Amino acid sequence: MKIVQVASEMFPYIKTGGLADAVGALSTALADNGHDVAAFIPGYRSALDHPEAQGAERRLRLKVELGDEFLTGEVRVFSPRKNLQVYLICRDEYFDRRGAYGNGERDYEDNADRFIFFCKGVVEMLRLGDLQADVVHCHDWQAALLPLLVRQAERRHHVTLALKTIFTIHNIAFQGLFPAKTFGRTNLPEDLMHIDGIEYYSQVNLMKGGILFSDRVTTVSPRYAQEIQTPEFGCGLDGVIQTRADDIVGLLNGVDTQVWNPALDPVLPARYSAANLTGKQLCRVELLKRFGLTPEFKGPIFGMVCRLTEQKGIDFVLTNAEFFMRHDARLIVLGSGDRRMERDLQKLATAHPQKIAFSARHDEPLSHLVEAGSDFFVMPSVFEPCGLNQMYSQVYGTVPITSRVGGLVDTVIDASEHPTTGTGLTCPPSAAGLRDALQRALELFAAPALYAQVQQRGMAKDFSWRVAARGYERLYQDAL
Ligand code: ADP
Ligand code: GLC
Repeated sequence: MKIVQVASEMFPYIKTGGLADAVGALSTALADNGHDVAAFIPGYRSALDHPEAQGAERRLRLKVELGDEFLTGEVRVFSPRKNLQVYLICRDEYFDRRGAYGNGERDYEDNADRFIFFCKGVVEMLRLGDLQADVVHCHDWQAALLPLLVRQAERRHHVTLALKTIFTIHNIAFQGLFPAKTFGRTNLPEDLMHIDGIEYYSQVNLMKGGILFSDRVTTVSPRYAQEIQTPEFGCGLDGVIQTRADDIVGLLNGVDTQVWNPALDPVLPARYSAANLTGKQLCRVELLKRFGLTPEFKGPIFGMVCRLTEQKGIDFVLTNAEFFMRHDARLIVLGSGDRRMERDLQKLATAHPQKIAFSARHDEPLSHLVEAGSDFFVMPSVFEPCGLNQMYSQVYGTVPITSRVGGLVDTVIDASEHPTTGTGLTCPPSAAGLRDALQRALELFAAPALYAQVQQRGMAKDFSWRVAARGYERLYQDAL
C-alpha cells in the first residue's frame, strides 16, 4: 500500500511526548513490512537541524492559500530508510522556533495559522507530487483538517488524492479550538461552519473535523475508545464520537524495540536482559549518581518521566510526598511543563535532597536511564489514552505503578489481584489510590522472589510494533 502519515511530531526529528514515538515507530514498522510510506511533519527547528534532514535529497517550493493570502514555503524530502520518505513542510516564520506549540508560558498565538498552513502544504504535495495515496492517516488535532481539505481539493481539481482517510485520536484533551474568525483561513465552504461541520459552540474545533470527516476513526487503546464516548473522558466531544461509534476502533501503541531495548540501548552505562540483570544494577548506581543521591542506596527507587500536566497525576504524587519521608525509599522525577508543578517538585527536592530528586528538563537519554535504573515506575495518570512509559518500564524490568484508566488498563495487570500473572501495581486515579499502591510496592520490594516474578513477567511481554502495526494494516485494508 502507499501510505501517507501526517502528524505534528515524529521521533527522532521532533518530540514532546508519546505522539512522536508512536508516529515514528508506526511509519518505520509499515515501511519495514514493505509498504511505501511518506511521513509529513512540520519543519521545526529540531527537524531541520537533524543530520538526515540536512542531507535532504529534494527541496520543493510551496505556495499555500490561507484565507485571502498566498503564503510561500518549502518542502524538504529525505529518506531515512528503505520504503520511508520524510517530508518537512517548512516555513521558518511558523516553525523555526524553540518550542513546537508554545514558549513554555503559553501557546503561540498563531497556532491556527501554523497548522492550517501545515495541512494545506500536505494537500499541495499530495496534488503536485502525485503521491497517489491509498491511505492518508492523520494524527491528532494538528492534522485533523486534512480529511476535509483532501476531499475539497479533489472536487476543486478533479483528481483523486487519497482513496481513504484515517484519523487517530492520541489525546482528546487537545482539540485545536480557535475563534470563529479562524474559519476563513481554511477556505472551506461556509456551510461547514455549522454544528454538523467544524463549528463547536461558536468556535472552530479542528479535531471535530477529523472525527466527522475521515473514513475511519481510531484511538490508541481499546479502553480509551470506550472512555471517550462518555462525558467523563470525552472532553465535550463524546456526543460527536458517539455518532461514529460503529467506525471507531482502539488500537494499542507498541514499543519501538530498536529504540527502547535494554539489551541494545546505547545510552545506558550497561546493557542487560531478562536472563542477566547485572547491567540493571549498574544503571541503578549511575542513576543515583546523576541525580545527586547516594549511590550505595539499596532500597526501592521510584522513577517518573513525564510532561508535567494535570493528566499525569503529579498532584497525587505531591500529596504523597510524606510517603518518601517515612520510608527508606527514593523518588526521582524527570519532567517539564506546568510551572506550578515544577516549583512544587523543586521545593520538595530542595527540602529533602537525600530522598527526592527532580530534573525539570526534557532529556531523551536521561529518560532511558530513569526507566532502566528504577525499581518502580510511577504513572498515576488521571486519564491516559495509551501511555508508553508503562510499556517501556516492563520491557526494562521496572515494575509500573499505574492508575486504572485508558491504555494503562490494557497494558498492566495488577500483581496483588492476579498473583500469578501480574506485571505491575494498579490503583484508582486518586492520591489515596496511589498511597495504597506505593505501600504494596514496598511490600513487594521486601519480597525479592516475588518482585523478580513480576519483573520477569513484564519483561516477557511482547509490546513490539510488529503486533501493533498489523492492526493498522488490517484497518487500512478493511477501509480500502
Ligand atoms: P504523553 O504522550 O501523554 O506525554 P506517553 O507515555 O505516551 O505520554 O509518552 C511520553 C513520551 O515522552 C515517552 O517517550 C517519555 O519517555 C517521553 N518524555 C516525557 N517527558 C520527558 C522528559 N522530561 N524527558 C525525556 N522524555 C520525556
Ligand atoms: C498522547 C497520549 C498518550 C499516548 C500518546 C501516543 O500523547 O497522552 O497516552 O501514549 O499520545 O499515542
